[in-house]
Amino acid sequence: MAEKQHLNVVFIGHVDHGKSTTVGRVLLEGGAIDQHLIDKYRKEAEERGKAGFELAYVMDNLKEERERGVTIDVAHKEFKTDTKHFTIIDAPGHRDFVKNMITGTSQADAAVLVVAADDGIAAQTKEHMYLSKVMGITQMIVSVNKMDITKPAYDEGRYNEVVEEVKKMLKNVGFKSDQVNILPSSGWKADNIKEKGELSWWKGDTLLQALDKLNPPTGAADGKIRIPIQDVYKISGIGAVPVGRVESGTIKAGTKLMFKPSNHQGGIVGEVKSVQMHHNEVPQAIPGDNIGFNCRGISHTDIRRGDVGGPVDDPPSVAKLFKAQVMVMNHPNVITEGYTPVFHCHTAQVACTFEKLIGKVGPDGTITEENPDFLKTGDQAFVLIRPTKPLAIEEVKKFSSLSRFAIRDMGQTVAAGVCMQIEEQWD
Ligand code: GTP
Ligand code: MG
Repeated sequence: MAEKQHLNVVFIGHVDHGKSTTVGRVLLEGGAIDQHLIDKYRKEAEERGKAGFELAYVMDNLKEERERGVTIDVAHKEFKTDTKHFTIIDAPGHRDFVKNMITGTSQADAAVLVVAADDGIAAQTKEHMYLSKVMGITQMIVSVNKMDITKPAYDEGRYNEVVEEVKKMLKNVGFKSDQVNILPSSGWKADNIKEKGELSWWKGDTLLQALDKLNPPTGAADGKIRIPIQDVYKISGIGAVPVGRVESGTIKAGTKLMFKPSNHQGGIVGEVKSVQMHHNEVPQAIPGDNIGFNCRGISHTDIRRGDVGGPVDDPPSVAKLFKAQVMVMNHPNVITEGYTPVFHCHTAQVACTFEKLIGKVGPDGTITEENPDFLKTGDQAFVLIRPTKPLAIEEVKKFSSLSRFAIRDMGQTVAAGVCMQIEEQWD
């Protein structure tokens, strides 16, 4: 049988809109988990006073998540359709955990934006839509969920209202209509997940059909290797097992990787001994694969989240100073030279200083004002950025997925951008 195409799909959207519940339902209807498990979770949820969260518990495994009924960190689960193999990434919607949502989204090839039909668009619906665009997502499914509690239930009129709002916002953020598939659902009642159920008026795709239509990632398997590290596990008898998503290149036993910035000046080199994917050893990993690998010469204290692996003859770039194009999306006052918020780039989070505001940029990409005194919401600009410590980042023309970043401050995403040129490298 031919290899199934592999895709990572992240579920995003405002807190409580039903992401984890929808994921649990998709896994159940898709045959990846058993009804017995849900029955067990139903008892546990009821005992915790969290009745209704049994499907969410499939992804919410932390004790605190189950007690609070809120997703905190991303969780991954595998699931297969006839032609595809999905890694589902369930992201948190709560505003306190947006940094985890960014990490999850940086690993995804496509996103499912869950919008509750009763609430419509809410704060993190907007923020997540924008962040997914910034992190390079080009395929999105919007699931207008909780259709069972519109008044009246399963109301086509209310669905159309939410769809109009969603379409307007997608356009503002820069998604084209052919990149988005919008559909109604009830994750809780299982409507339009695999079968239409009560949503019999709906003529479009079910959520499973929409997932099956997504295109696999296009990163170059014959390109230079880049793998941002999400975590490093210490496994007894094996040693350090870094995990992350391959963005470019092919990794197999014998591959030599240099990790930068790492805890060692100039980076550290290891040799891949074996590659695991979904708990099985695999001969090789290509772009889009989320893998764990065991590396000769690397201990779990040598590297950490935010480091990137690449070939020794073309190691990851580590910037001391870089030129970026930024867009200020939502800043309560103004950005001036010296401002030092946190930059989120692939799995890295580093405070960086706006060293110079080079010029404001108009919609056609030309400079409309040189050396502005400040930037405010809505402005786009070329700027010079100096990380306060080594940051692995790439130029957009070389590795676009590792060139994008979101800027967060005061508990919200204030701006986003892309690295145009590295001016000074960290040794
Ligand atoms: P966070 O991860 O914390 O952002 O929330 P979430 O989007 O994952 O929401 P979750 O799946 O945890 O569901 C939140 C609540 O909404 C739970 O009480 C669910 O039972 C309920 N819920 C989820 N989907 C539906 C739905 O389709 N219909 C109804 N009526 N309730 C739903
Ligand atoms: Mg959740």
